Amino acid sequence: MGSIDTPKNPENGSRTLPPATDAYATYDGDKNGIDGMPARATEMTLPVESEAIKKRRASMLPLEVGTRVLCRWRDCKYHPVKVIERRKMQFGGSNEYEYYVHYTEFNRRLDEWVKLEQLDLDSVETVVDEKVEDKVTSLKMTRHQKRKIDETHVEGHEELDAASLREHEEFTKVKNIATIELGRYEIETWYFSPFPPEYNDCLRLYFCEFCLNFMKRKEQLQRHMKKCDLKHPPGDEIYRSGTLSMFEVDGKKNKVYGQNLCYLAKLFLDHKTLYYDVDLFLFYILCECDDRGCHMVGYFSKEKHSEESYNLACILTLPPYQRKGYGKFLIAFSYELSKKESKVGTPERPLSDLGLLSYRGYWTRVLLDILKRHKGNISIKELSDMTAIKAEDILTTLQTLELIQYRKGQHVICADPKVLDRHLKAAGRGGLEVDVSKLIWTPYKEQG
Ligand code: ACO
Ligand code: ZN
Repeated sequence: MGSIDTPKNPENGSRTLPPATDAYATYDGDKNGIDGMPARATEMTLPVESEAIKKRRASMLPLEVGTRVLCRWRDCKYHPVKVIERRKMQFGGSNEYEYYVHYTEFNRRLDEWVKLEQLDLDSVETVVDEKVEDKVTSLKMTRHQKRKIDETHVEGHEELDAASLREHEEFTKVKNIATIELGRYEIETWYFSPFPPEYNDCLRLYFCEFCLNFMKRKEQLQRHMKKCDLKHPPGDEIYRSGTLSMFEVDGKKNKVYGQNLCYLAKLFLDHKTLYYDVDLFLFYILCECDDRGCHMVGYFSKEKHSEESYNLACILTLPPYQRKGYGKFLIAFSYELSKKESKVGTPERPLSDLGLLSYRGYWTRVLLDILKRHKGNISIKELSDMTAIKAEDILTTLQTLELIQYRKGQHVICADPKVLDRHLKAAGRGGLEVDVSKLIWTPYKEQG
């Protein structure tokens, strides 16, 4: 399978920190070589400027928020962008601005501040959008999320109206923290995360990789590391296989850890609302362990009680560890927990682009593996019982693969072995297996 718009370099917008250094070269996340480059991307040489052209360009400046223009990206090609925000340059002249742009054909995670020289002023579209409303849809929340917001913030309001959504979008449109340091890695962030106001002026945050406390300065982190006695996430280790461990953290018992994790995760999750009420969640933290401790690779959260049969609320693999099979492992793990609960489960919606890809791949592999091995007819209900995948997800997966026919008022699975093999091949590698014999876990029960 190809790659979508995340950096394609092995470290995925992150770099390994050199041991014990205080000097940081800015890592420029090699975002070249992305499949599916928009057709409009063009390499351009700008003509020598005449006085008239210079004048015309100057009259456009500073560009208005909402302007659409071509912008030179890290691949040295020009891509269409929309200006989301502008700010005066710290050391520029009185009328020198830099611009926060959204590449309209890419995901919001690639939004960034650019200098005027990266913009091709000849491509400026004269009609400026009234509102930066491009992706109100990106803020569409699940019913569940709306309920959570209603409960905590807008009591008495049944629904969040479009205006509130837009206000939220306005508030989250510019990334606040640009990079974080976590364990061995310096990681470029993807989205806005609502850190407390005292962190407003920070471009970089330093996280303790074990308790997830975050600090403004490197020295604070170094002092913290001398006295922090955690070497793994708090909570119970419920799985260990080789160097991989999974810890279950109860948000009620470890509130600060749960909140820190949510702040951190929101930097890489666009569609999710940050909950301050972490009591209602369990967090499953996947770690790679060595003699220095258990290092977080990714996690998923799960509501203690879900009316909508969600078995996973948010899932994240930290960027340096992405595309190595950990996401598939986390998804498989969430279904293993559902099997132990004798329930079917489904991830909370909406799914992000990467979330959907990962789930589609997982569902395809699990279901088609069974269909390949199974002799005779099998129903969607039986597939659901065997896999803990919700029937609707099975139906949409098989429909997408065109393996379902509707005959005499019934859905019938048509599984030609050759077609199954083709789809299985396209669904990619299976990833890291969950060894169920190593899972020691009982479903959550309210105590007292
Ligand atoms: N380009 C193309 N395909 C991709 C990409 C990508 N950048 N990333 C994942 N995939 C697809 C591939 O099919 C991949 O399998 P392959 O590598 O064999 O081709 C499959 O998804 C999963 O790959 P993994 O390595 O197992 O997954 P990873 O560890 O990268 O984690 C995850 C996937 C968790 C979605 C990660 O991309 C992530 O954390 N993204 C940011 C947060 C996010 O969007 N989370 C989901 C939100 S929805 C929700 O929480 C309910
Ligand atoms: Zn700590």
